[in-house]
Amino acid sequence: MADAILEFREVSAGYGSGIVLDHVTFAVPESGSLALLGRNGVGKTTLILTAMGFLPLTGGSIHCRGQDISKAPAHRRAQLGLGWVPQERDIFPSLSVEENLTVAARSGRWMLDAIWELFPRLKERRGNMGNQLSGGEQQMLTIGRTLMTNPAVLLLDEPLEGLAPIIVEELTAAIREMAQNEGMALVLVEQHADVALALTEDALVIERGAIAHRAKSQALLNDRATLERYVGMNLDVDESASRKA
Ligand SMILES: Nc1ncnc2c1ncn2[C@@H]1O[C@H](COP(=O)(O)OP(=O)(O)OP(=O)(O)O)[C@@H](O)[C@H]1O
Ligand SMILES: [Mg+2]
Repeated sequence: MADAILEFREVSAGYGSGIVLDHVTFAVPESGSLALLGRNGVGKTTLILTAMGFLPLTGGSIHCRGQDISKAPAHRRAQLGLGWVPQERDIFPSLSVEENLTVAARSGRWMLDAIWELFPRLKERRGNMGNQLSGGEQQMLTIGRTLMTNPAVLLLDEPLEGLAPIIVEELTAAIREMAQNEGMALVLVEQHADVALALTEDALVIERGAIAHRAKSQALLNDRATLERYVGMNLDVDESASRKA
């Protein structure tokens, strides 16, 4: 098998002496897609921050295309192709939409025209300042800005959190298009398990900082018992029907 674009080998990490990740091992192949599921506080964001180089490892190693990047600083990992969309929308409030997109751009498939096609709403607002956008538009802009760096793997941390249903639909369609884009891998942290599983090939369920379950996304989508056990309330299930069953 070709080298993975991102691989964790027995990674342990956390904040100071508080270890959160506990011997986490997984690999994302080039152009692959991975859903990271789990309840609040299980360590999903910690895993992403660790991948991006913001938290030191206390054990194990991280690899990118076979290269050990465990000690590489964040900017080096970005150069190598790790693109991060943080859980908190992160835009420049006093730059225009277009300036936000071009500020960190690197050449590749994702150029302004491709972003406008993916997010027509942003095109309509290309001259607006970052602070003149709705929450959903800010999220699109945050994703668009990271896409403009043309990453080899895009790590999205709960991109649908707190957004209106119509925006969730638009973003879901955009993420589907990204996932189908040959040449870019996707790691999608989501509490909307049904959405995340429909968009990805592989899935990991995290519990208390460790991988509690691994599956093909399609298989997990049909494995209600496992989903209810680890993801619980965030499943779009018919509550009354399951209570009667
Ligand atoms: N800066 C920090 N310092 C110390 N502990 C932290 C810090 N950030 C998070 N933690 C702890 O690490 C654990 C995992 O948190 P993390 O943010 O990774 O969870 P999460 O799965 O992303 O949750 P959510 O779904 O709510 O975003 C939690 O126990 C949390 O309290
Ligand atoms: Mg989080």
